[in-house]
Amino acid sequence: MKNISVIGAGQMGNGIAHVFAQSGYSVTLIDIAQERLDKAVATIGKNLDRQVAKGSLTEDQKKTALANIATATDMAAGVKAADLVVEAATENVDLKLKIFKDIDANAPAGCILATNTSSISITRIAAVTGRPAQVIGMHFMNPVPVMKLVEVIRGYNTTDVVTKTIMDLSTAIGKVPVEVNDYSGFVANRILMPMINEAIETLFQGVGGVAEIDTVMKLGMAHPMGPLQLADFIGLDTCLAIMRVLHEGFGNPKYAPCPLLVQMVTAGKLGVKSGEGFYQYTAGSKDLVVAAAFAK
Ligand code: CAA
Repeated sequence: MKNISVIGAGQMGNGIAHVFAQSGYSVTLIDIAQERLDKAVATIGKNLDRQVAKGSLTEDQKKTALANIATATDMAAGVKAADLVVEAATENVDLKLKIFKDIDANAPAGCILATNTSSISITRIAAVTGRPAQVIGMHFMNPVPVMKLVEVIRGYNTTDVVTKTIMDLSTAIGKVPVEVNDYSGFVANRILMPMINEAIETLFQGVGGVAEIDTVMKLGMAHPMGPLQLADFIGLDTCLAIMRVLHEGFGNPKYAPCPLLVQMVTAGKLGVKSGEGFYQYTAGSKDLVVAAAFAK
């Protein structure tokens, strides 16, 4: 493993590129628009600066990490020398299937194709490629440079060799891999998302306010963020997409998304990325202010 191509320069893609580049791999970050790539590289620079500021990285190591990252807007060119491709596009099944057909057509025969999907079936994604044995889930957590876990998901056809390669690689970049099987939501979101959805339901039914629900979970369960703040951080559109995958995948009404979550996404209240969700976000401020819609 030497050359890693990362598809998608959003929040997850830039974090994945960051950790591979910091561990000495040659990374090609691919997206359709150059300005998204430039923004992603600037974000990686800022996040590396945080590590330099706290002394966990030297200025030289930061420069080397940044020098390890190239960008590409042409998918075919971006994956042609890859040993591993990690796809981190939006959580949309049709988009992922299209991307995997394109990667499969352009990446070298031995290249492993990984997806950072948070809930979509690896087996379904693998089925649109001519190499299902080499397709695997590599699910990083946000913020990628900080969170230690990589959930490694075996599809129906994924081989032992490919699984071991990805487990070892995850360890080599300083993460702790956990191997799981391919059912909707895997383990992380099978447990996390119903908790977040239940927190929204608790708010919807008026059992508690935004601050009260989050405080109960932060102070009572020692979670670093309350579930409503975490939903804003992940993105309410992503939370809704994952609940829909669980609901459809298991056909069980317990996974039905809360109507309030559906309504907020319809209204464009997506959390941090749109500036408002359960909280109101102001650029440059770290204050946690409950959104006007939920203020008492
Ligand atoms: N890159 C590098 N370092 C970063 C960073 C980034 N993007 N973001 C934060 N950090 C570092 C900071 O520099 C800081 O380092 P030190 O403590 O060593 O100084 C540390 O992380 C903590 O950051 P902050 O002080 O800014 O803020 P905080 O203490 O409130 O922590 C947090 C922020 C790490 C995000 C913490 O609130 C947290 O762990 N929240 C929960 C995150 C979580 O649950 N993530 C999983 C989401 S689910 C998911 O990703 C999967 C899915 O499929 C939906």
